[in-house]
Amino acid sequence: MSDTSPTTPYRPATVAVTSGRPPHEADRPLNEPLTMASTYVAGGDLEYGRYGNPTWSAFEQALGDLEGGRCLAFASGLAAVATILDLVGHGGTVVAPRHAYTGSVMQLADLEARGRITAVLVDVTDTDAVIKACDDAALVWLESPTNPALEVADIAPIVAAAHEAGAYVVVDNTFATPLLQQPLELGADIVVHSATKFIAGHSDVLLGALATRDDQLYGVLRQRRELTGATPGTFEAWLALRGLRTLHVRLERAQGNAQELVRRLGEHPAVSEVRYPGFGAIVSIVLDQGALAADLLTHKTTLWVHATSLGGVESTFERRRRWKAEAATIPDGLVRLSVGIEDVDDLWDDLAAALDDLVLPQA
Ligand SMILES: Cc1ncc(COP(=O)(O)O)c(C=O)c1O
Repeated sequence: MSDTSPTTPYRPATVAVTSGRPPHEADRPLNEPLTMASTYVAGGDLEYGRYGNPTWSAFEQALGDLEGGRCLAFASGLAAVATILDLVGHGGTVVAPRHAYTGSVMQLADLEARGRITAVLVDVTDTDAVIKACDDAALVWLESPTNPALEVADIAPIVAAAHEAGAYVVVDNTFATPLLQQPLELGADIVVHSATKFIAGHSDVLLGALATRDDQLYGVLRQRRELTGATPGTFEAWLALRGLRTLHVRLERAQGNAQELVRRLGEHPAVSEVRYPGFGAIVSIVLDQGALAADLLTHKTTLWVHATSLGGVESTFERRRRWKAEAATIPDGLVRLSVGIEDVDDLWDDLAAALDDLVLPQA
């Protein structure tokens, strides 16, 4: 294990603003410049563009400091997911949430179909069941809150059981971000992100990242990134770091909006269920009238944008079961809302008007 003492004495908001910057020296830029390089003059640490890049390193320093570990950036969230799943030896068992992000579940299904692993899908809210499943596991994959069911796992006891069984624990922290949940602090071995979402925060970047406190794991994962070429784009890393600088401000505002919308949505007659874990900016609602009503809703608004993905400054929503890969246990009429940083009353007016149209007049 590495020395896990923080590289910065600051609190998270200050870390988000300050970490990964060049030293304060005359004429140095305040921000790490965009270094576009496929190769470097030989004889140093970098040598070739697939092995490292100062712009990636700046982003990795900042996100790593926020997560409390050493970070590696990847071409996308799924590139990071694939690199981690590749750690599992032939025939190993992976315990994972039945409602995890479809891309992660599809990777597990693909590996299983090719005889590489056995996937055991669990309800992450049932801690006893997850702990029981840990017995035979090589890797326990958690996503908390889950996408789009918004189920929350009790990470610490699951980590204890997994470690007892000799399994690694990975937590997809995309929805919570390191500002709301720090899985490494709870004992997880690896935390993974779709940095495409809240970290970058402006719906203009595809990027993934992982962080770990374990030096050996870090070395193996870094080598896997080099071997497979799942490396991030330099401009993407630069943009994501720029986005990360305001993560705390964006998240505070979006979370405040989400909490207010949850209160109002709970009283709307077209909404039969509001799912919200109590924190974060993702809310799922279930419409009584099912898929048709949900599809109508997503085409009736002017401010809310019908779009997949989430975590941007703008509010977006979609009916998740419109994707064939989404779990059949997700209600047909579930709409996942990614609440942005607009004025909450404008968000509500637009959404409420569209929901009002779905309510059948009383006979
Ligand atoms: C929770 C979660 N993890 C991973 C991913 C995959 O990330 P990316 O789209 O950056 O590959 C997503 C994408 O939606 C996600 O929501």
